[in-house]
Amino acid sequence: MEKFVIQGLGGKKTLKGTVRVNGAKNAALKAMAAAVLFDGPVRLKNMPHTEDIHIQAEILRKLGADVSWTKDSGEIDHAMEIDTRGLRSTDIDGELAGKMRASVVLTGPLLGRFGKATFPAPGGCVIGARPIDLFISGYEAMGAMTKEDGVYDISVSPKSKVQSLKGANIIFKKVSVGATETLMMAAVLAEGKTVLENCACEPEIVNVVEWLNACGAKIKGVGTSTIEIEGTGGRLLSSESAAKNPYVAIPDRIEAGSYLVLGALCADELKIDDCRPEHLGALIDLLKLSGVPIKTTDSSIVVSGNTMPDSSFKTFDVTTKEYPGFATDLQPMIAVYMTQVSGRSKLTETIYEGRFKYVDDLKSLGADIDTVSSQEITISGPSRLKALPAGREMKALDIRAGFAVVLAALCAEGETTVTNIGLIDRGYERLEERLQSLGADVVRN
Ligand code: UD1
Repeated sequence: MEKFVIQGLGGKKTLKGTVRVNGAKNAALKAMAAAVLFDGPVRLKNMPHTEDIHIQAEILRKLGADVSWTKDSGEIDHAMEIDTRGLRSTDIDGELAGKMRASVVLTGPLLGRFGKATFPAPGGCVIGARPIDLFISGYEAMGAMTKEDGVYDISVSPKSKVQSLKGANIIFKKVSVGATETLMMAAVLAEGKTVLENCACEPEIVNVVEWLNACGAKIKGVGTSTIEIEGTGGRLLSSESAAKNPYVAIPDRIEAGSYLVLGALCADELKIDDCRPEHLGALIDLLKLSGVPIKTTDSSIVVSGNTMPDSSFKTFDVTTKEYPGFATDLQPMIAVYMTQVSGRSKLTETIYEGRFKYVDDLKSLGADIDTVSSQEITISGPSRLKALPAGREMKALDIRAGFAVVLAALCAEGETTVTNIGLIDRGYERLEERLQSLGADVVRN
């Protein structure tokens, strides 16, 4: 098991330089699933080399698809080609799916194309119950039958003469990114019109839909709470149009936001390049209100953390919300920020019921945090964080909590070892190399 060994900056703001933001993994994963809707190869660009993308590629390969990395621009091959013509199986590999919840998104295109899909209860970050009831009830509304016996077996009713899913009116009882994307992709090949209500509006969904529409899908209303899809009745999207319209992943707003908090806490000056500040409005507004000097252009953010001591930054309260609200995936990083600024902050998590497990780690470094409930904490700052005594290590608990403990370790005095960093690799490409390029002493062992 690999580890990061991190030399803390002890409150000094010495990091300096530029980080380029990669393509959004949460959009790229869904575009990979959408490749199943096409009759031939599709080209995907600006794909990040994160572990989740590699897992999704492996799942597709096991189903019979060809997935290969190619050169995009620059030195690293960030483009991908997926050809699903050889796809025969509809059984999603249990072990791989167990590692990553986004695998469940594949069921939509599989069901749309083959009328059946089998998959295990999906895995992913351990941050809450994460049920899949919205997917199942949506499929059932579209005419599929589901059986659950350790694995979920979904198929379009064998008694029906209709092989395709049928368009339906579905009102999600909860806003869900994955259910919105999955049911929408299932509806692309269905018979008739599907109307999805109470949909998620995340930019990653818009990114994938704009591509699918450019390739012949008929999806209206994305980015609003009601999405309408005119199904093709089983006809696959054409790879000829895909050849003219490659998918390009938008910049990863969560990666950009993670580096923005890093910049506010640890950098003399940090430029975050190739990002979309418009997707980070909630975080940028709060940091600016707090006193952090931030300048944005359409595609970059410059944060100068060094102009003031953290103790002069004002504190604030945060409640996580669906987009365009404050992203739950940035909640652990903002908790670290709150440990370093003056005053008492309230942090409320509304999306997941188990996303404060990292709090014990921050407390062990010296943070002053009270747990009010499983979904609310208060943080008093500023605290001088100190590395754990020699021999004790911290463990990355999930992708984002993993980044947060790395951030806390950088703020602290002394050397901290973070284990289980495979989880961090699921969402951040070559994190240690990028931190090193800014002047941090972080080594992968
Ligand atoms: C996606 C993101 C994840 C982010 C989350 C919320 C990907 C790969 N992951 O996850 O990083 O934290 O959006 O912004 O894109 N729910 C149900 N029943 C369901 C489905 C979901 O109750 O059938 C609940 C979940 O338990 C959660 C809430 O809905 O409490 C929102 O989850 P959802 O938006 O579905 O998250 P994901 O799509 O899994």
